[in-house]
Amino acid sequence: MKRQWWHGKCAYQIYPKSFCDSNGDGIGDLQGIISRLDYLKDLGADILWLSPIFVSPLADEGYDIADYYNIDPRFGTMDDMDELIAEAKKRDMYILMDLVVNHCSDEHEWFRRACEDPDGKYGRYFYIEDFKDGKGPCNWRSYFGGSVWEPLPGHPDKCYLHAFHKKQPDLNWENPKVREEVCQIINWWLDKGLAGFRIDAIMNIKKALPYRDYPADRGDGLSSIVNMLHDAKGVGTFLTEMRDRTFAPHGAFTVGEVFDADPEELPAFIGDDGYFSSMFDFAPAIFGHSGQGWMLHSGITPDDYRNCVFDTQARVKDIGFISNIIENHDEPRGVSRYIPEGEACPASKKLLATVYFLTKGLPWIYQGQELGMENLPVSCIEEVDDIASIDNYKVAVASGIPKEDALRAISIHGRDNARSPFQWTGGKNAGFTTGTPWLRVNPNYVSINREDEAADEDSVLNYYRRLTRLRKDPAYAETLVYGDFVPWLQDRPGVMAYLRRGEDKTILVMGNFQKEPQVIPLPETGDGSYTVLLNNYPDLKKVPEGLAMEGYQAVVLHLR
Ligand code: NOJ
Repeated sequence: MKRQWWHGKCAYQIYPKSFCDSNGDGIGDLQGIISRLDYLKDLGADILWLSPIFVSPLADEGYDIADYYNIDPRFGTMDDMDELIAEAKKRDMYILMDLVVNHCSDEHEWFRRACEDPDGKYGRYFYIEDFKDGKGPCNWRSYFGGSVWEPLPGHPDKCYLHAFHKKQPDLNWENPKVREEVCQIINWWLDKGLAGFRIDAIMNIKKALPYRDYPADRGDGLSSIVNMLHDAKGVGTFLTEMRDRTFAPHGAFTVGEVFDADPEELPAFIGDDGYFSSMFDFAPAIFGHSGQGWMLHSGITPDDYRNCVFDTQARVKDIGFISNIIENHDEPRGVSRYIPEGEACPASKKLLATVYFLTKGLPWIYQGQELGMENLPVSCIEEVDDIASIDNYKVAVASGIPKEDALRAISIHGRDNARSPFQWTGGKNAGFTTGTPWLRVNPNYVSINREDEAADEDSVLNYYRRLTRLRKDPAYAETLVYGDFVPWLQDRPGVMAYLRRGEDKTILVMGNFQKEPQVIPLPETGDGSYTVLLNNYPDLKKVPEGLAMEGYQAVVLHLR
């Protein structure tokens, strides 16, 4: 693997709508982000990915772009964006935007013109077909529910394809003009000084054509669009073209939202000269998911979590650099998902932080994760903003599931969970806004907030600061960034432990991933002595059999 400038960095995702509101309209904005750059720098974040801030009706919270060349006024202006890029540079930080080009908004000019003339130039930017006997050409189900086919406004005999919401028409990547437009957008932003992109939903750009039905997988007679994607071959041709015409000449950093890539394709995706610099590891996020909606998802235990992470590490090895996360804006909070219910506390949150952050790859922090922010409680469907949650709720209730059960599934899996406003202080609206926040603040802000945690040496926030500093410490960075990942006691329940083995140092990361104390053996290396680099408890008890670890104790040891 070729070494890259970003391997030793720490990355951070900002969900702008919920990060920091500078003008009191209840919506976070670019000036708010600028005002917090020093906080992020101090945390140790170097690369900042902003979820979309382009002009958008926000039907899918910005993942429906109506103008790729302008900032939505709710987030600020292009001057604000230029200022953000410049202020980041001053601090040796890098800004990534979200590249959402599988689809645009139905309010984008391209789509408006396609509706005016479906057979003209812009009609060919989309997948527009004739309805036959009132039906679209195939039975694919969109991610947000219902058929992918929607009547084309003004043309009741025609329909267009949308893999996500009906306000997100898919762009037709088979059309070279669409690919040209995408390359222009990317180069325009990179020329402005952007460091790169997170790339949204990218595996969807290739469809298996011609259209055909797949076996229905639910009572609605439709088949998940994912079934089609398994047959869609050739996405690599599009991705190669995009890389060669945009990212490569700019030396841009890219991280792909890649689901469903075959393991043998890893070198093509993230190897040296891969389509992307990196891609997220979603193995723990999708563990236990059913194709039948959230009601039938099963949970994940600490051992399952460990196994997912270790499997990924074994697959990726030295092929490339995977991006490690415990949450993002589409997922529940990591501490609410990977720590058993009722056991999320400062110790267990620090344990989870330790064991994911020091695996091999690029560590990402999602806003608020560093405070130990938890899932957002929900008491009725009217409180819910997220379109995926609303769809899952409707489908569940329509199939006869009691409303309370459907709501419970949303409270576990819903995308509002991680989208509630950042908890800056214990004051009004958690210090996020002086106005009315667009989404309710998690009531636990009175105890989980940046202000209080900054003042508490033992807080989750200060633990994250220690983690980022450790990974960048010149004495250990070589081992923690490039050292081999070697599982330790992989089959032992309630333990997540591994070695990072470099040429001249071996570091052990070991967590007692359960609330009961247990004695965990140490690997036999060197003279048996060690230096403690990090410990989420005040003490560490050595016994003849190994370490007597407290419930949810995590340590990082330099083994001599
Ligand atoms: C993935 C994004 O992360 C999600 O928020 C969005 O709804 C879909 N892609 C569609 O763009």
